[in-house]
Amino acid sequence: LVRKSINAPYILVVGGCGFIGSHTVWELAKAGYNVIIIDNLSNAFSSVIDRIEAMVYVYYEKTPEHRPCLKLYEADYRDCQAMTSILEEYEIPTPFALSPVESDLRKRSNITGVIHFAAHKAVGESIKQPLKYYANNVGGMINFCSLLGEYGIKKFVFSSSATVYGTVADIGIPLREEYCSQQTTDFVDDDGERKLVHSGSSGLTNPYGRTKWMCEAILSDLAHADPEWTITALRYFNPIGCDESGLLGEDPRDTASNLMPVVLRVITGALPVLSIYGDDYDTADGTAVRDYIHVTDLAKGHLAALKSRTDSGFRVYNLGSGRGSSVLEVVDAMEKVCGRKIPTQIVGRREGDVGMCVAKARRAEEELGWRTEKNLESCCRDVWRFLECVAGEAFVS
Ligand code: WQD
Repeated sequence: LVRKSINAPYILVVGGCGFIGSHTVWELAKAGYNVIIIDNLSNAFSSVIDRIEAMVYVYYEKTPEHRPCLKLYEADYRDCQAMTSILEEYEIPTPFALSPVESDLRKRSNITGVIHFAAHKAVGESIKQPLKYYANNVGGMINFCSLLGEYGIKKFVFSSSATVYGTVADIGIPLREEYCSQQTTDFVDDDGERKLVHSGSSGLTNPYGRTKWMCEAILSDLAHADPEWTITALRYFNPIGCDESGLLGEDPRDTASNLMPVVLRVITGALPVLSIYGDDYDTADGTAVRDYIHVTDLAKGHLAALKSRTDSGFRVYNLGSGRGSSVLEVVDAMEKVCGRKIPTQIVGRREGDVGMCVAKARRAEEELGWRTEKNLESCCRDVWRFLECVAGEAFVS
């Protein structure tokens, strides 16, 4: 049993069994936070929390009195009844009021912050099943935030995505915070200026991206209406890699179509070849360029958002390295690490892809004190270690 560090704050992580969620849970635990995890396990396994608990036990072997607690609730964040009973467990009892005037009867909680990862995230699926995406990603978040507000839990970190920038082909430059290729909509940015966002000719390219953009706009309006809220939206670029221990990695139930999971399936022989979607982009080697960010750096960005945001209001940040890597460069880096050739074939471009998508994360560094520490080579090295640990000698020999 893990004794809880009773003085440490509680952080609620929704979707904490997923790829980025589990890495964030691990970083929170190392930083001494008690972590409450909610996950419906629709695209993850609860065993990842067992592994993290074992890692936490070892990490605090010499200082067991500081060891934080991890508690997993297998529940859907859209289940209002389940969420209510969970939040009640961490409610600070309201002192008996001599008269209603004397005491603030509003609920208060031991939960000092929430990080919200839970969402459907497959771009292609979102085009085929938009209502599933709007119901879960947008409708679910609206009801959940409403409930959090009732319990006085108003520090919220939201998992957004660089997809809100849509196809930036018409901008054609490294992304900047102030650019969002969206419909012509005013948008309250982090410094409070109302900026007419860059209405890119193409706008957002898919329902998934639009759910992220809508959630940002909703959260911005919520913080505008109720200044007790501190809301931080983090726009991820391309998360890859895994914890250096090799014990945590990308392990979804569904078959991810992102580049690195596909590369791994080619390495393990589950796929015969990596299809590269186009080599006719305006990039150095013709293949598309992305800002690949190590998932540990990304997880630490969430802790920075929790720690650094002492003000109220809505702010949005890019979480990326600022360095672009092409598909062929990723393949080359992975080949160097695993010591084997990765068979590839060039095919046509994938619908909705852009040639370049690279972050400008200046404000995250200036305001959150966060920047990436790892590079593409360390991402590949850590992924390979995960494969060795998880798949064992069977396949790495
Ligand atoms: C990267 C590059 C592909 C697979 C997506 C989502 C985005 C975000 C991150 C959630 C592209 C190329 C890929 C393959 C390939 N997810 N590729 N062959 O498209 O930049 O972003 O994941 O927030 O919302 O859109 O990532 O990993 O799919 O592709 O050539 O089999 O690899 O064309 O250039 P993407 P990706």
